[in-house]
Amino acid sequence: MESNIFWNSYTFMLLVLCSGAAAYDALDPKGNITIKWDLISWTPDGYVAVVTMNNFQMYRPITSPGWTLGWTWAKNEVIWAMMGAQATDQGDCSKFRGNIPHSCEKKPAIVDLLPNTPYNQQIANCCTGGVMASMGKDPSAALSAFQISVGSAGNTNTTVKLPKNFTLVAPGGGYTCGPAKIIRPTRFVTNDGLRVTQAMMTWRVICSYSQLLASPKPTCCVSLSSFHNASITPCPSCSCGCHNSSNCVRKTPSGKGVNVRKAELQCTKHMCPINVHWHVKSNYNKYWSVKMTITNFNYRFNYTQWTLIVQHPNLNNATQVSSFSYKPLMPNLSTNDTALFYGRKSYNDVLMQAGPKGNVHSDLTLEKDGKTIALFPRRVYFNGNLCVMPSPDSYPFLPSSAGTR
Ligand SMILES: *[C@@H]1O[C@H](CO)[C@@H](O)[C@H](O)[C@H]1NC(C)=O
Ligand SMILES: *[C@@H]1O[C@H](CO)[C@@H](O)[C@H](O)[C@H]1NC(C)=O
Ligand SMILES: *[C@@H]1O[C@H](CO)[C@@H](O)[C@H](O)[C@H]1NC(C)=O
Ligand SMILES: *[C@@H]1O[C@H](CO)[C@@H](O)[C@H](O)[C@H]1NC(C)=O
Ligand SMILES: *[C@@H]1O[C@H](CO)[C@@H](O)[C@H](O)[C@H]1NC(C)=O
Ligand SMILES: *[C@@H]1O[C@H](CO)[C@@H](O)[C@H](O)[C@H]1NC(C)=O
Ligand SMILES: *[C@@H]1O[C@H](CO)[C@@H](O)[C@H](O)[C@H]1NC(C)=O
Ligand SMILES: *[C@@H]1O[C@H](CO)[C@@H](O)[C@H](O)[C@H]1NC(C)=O
Ligand SMILES: *[C@@H]1O[C@H](CO)[C@@H](O)[C@H](O)[C@H]1NC(C)=O
Repeated sequence: MESNIFWNSYTFMLLVLCSGAAAYDALDPKGNITIKWDLISWTPDGYVAVVTMNNFQMYRPITSPGWTLGWTWAKNEVIWAMMGAQATDQGDCSKFRGNIPHSCEKKPAIVDLLPNTPYNQQIANCCTGGVMASMGKDPSAALSAFQISVGSAGNTNTTVKLPKNFTLVAPGGGYTCGPAKIIRPTRFVTNDGLRVTQAMMTWRVICSYSQLLASPKPTCCVSLSSFHNASITPCPSCSCGCHNSSNCVRKTPSGKGVNVRKAELQCTKHMCPINVHWHVKSNYNKYWSVKMTITNFNYRFNYTQWTLIVQHPNLNNATQVSSFSYKPLMPNLSTNDTALFYGRKSYNDVLMQAGPKGNVHSDLTLEKDGKTIALFPRRVYFNGNLCVMPSPDSYPFLPSSAGTR
């Protein structure tokens, strides 16, 4: 009976993995990053636009070192000035005298500014170093904005040309962007609600994520243990790749990796940058208690704004969750066994690089529903990416007494 449940979920997991190619995500079917250009004024040779990027993904953040947005100008447009972000390259501005543009690149690459940017170079919602939270974690931090003054461009709504070939690069990759499309001009309501203004023109670009595009190999795995059996069920070997002499770093007694420049992953049998360990601490008549630990094995990556999704039959009713924030999720699935976990601001919302500080953990108390017996989660996602589970026949063996206290 129990193994049936697990095999079914295993098949489902494969389905989810395969559907990743089509960028369809059963837990977050509408998730995308929408980039909107609101042209707020025309200038003698172009326009000024406020560009807003909204992360509409429920649980996938853009983690540090942040996004890079690119496009190809349709004509010979230049960027006169920017606020709240900057182009990485100025390019060849040699034909300009006097006023020199901020960038003359045909394909500019734009990055966010850092939080300590002088106030007069900021605009609202800028300057987070390109980090965006996911919508499910914090809608108020799930956006990024900058202002751009474009020259050598059309300056009426019939002569302006839309930029082409948008690209969104984020740590881990995986995004593709569609074409820019003119939509109804955005209306802005003043803070006092007494006046409404409207963009001269608005276009938008939708970028979507595909796990397979981001990485053909998984990036996370799950290990399991339980109080009733001293053996730990490890992540399957080679979950995320197999290790050899040159693609990983041995752990030293100090916890610091040697030769971090050459490779960035700590050597493990699973070779995943992220391991989620689920330990069943005790089993009472009405409750389970569990310790969840997320460990970072990457010496060169801090996961800012991380999220963890766990599917477990009793997760619609976690009665106690220590040190993580917890939200039951109601995706468009037939069950509501899914919960979102994320760190608390300035406490554990950054999962630090591999080493002594490279882990975060939480103790959960789950209320049993009297129907399902399951010690271990069905599926786990870190930052929206599915984690590899051990095969069901290797789960810690549950004695027939079920270990109930
Ligand atoms: C993008 O996300 C928004 C907000 O959830 C949604 O309204 C829109 O339909 C999505 N678009 C696509 C193409 O998925
Ligand atoms: C362009 O502006 C005219 C009025 O100046 C307006 O009627 C038209 O709808 C606008 N077109 C677009 C695509 O915004
Ligand atoms: C946009 O990208 C496509 C495919 O990568 C390419 O064929 C096309 O020439 C590009 N367009 C511009 C304007 O760069
Ligand atoms: C080690 O693995 C990496 C990638 O996993 C591969 O590129 C490299 O060639 C391998 N090196 C050896 C010595 O096998
Ligand atoms: C991770 O964050 C810590 C503390 O802010 C910092 O010292 C370290 O350099 C960061 N590591 C990376 C790889 O960015
Ligand atoms: C969830 O937990 C609360 C508090 O323990 C309990 O009153 C409620 O009946 C539970 N709901 C479900 C659906 O199990
Ligand atoms: C969501 O659920 C409703 C009702 O069960 C169904 O009609 C709809 O097609 C589902 N949508 C998706 C995207 O799965
Ligand atoms: C999901 O949760 C809602 C609200 O707690 C409940 O009404 C519904 O019956 C649950 N559905 C399933 C399939 O458990
Ligand atoms: C503990 O689990 C392992 C692996 O599932 C199993 O081989 C072993 O018999 C179990 N030990 C006990 C005492 O149940």
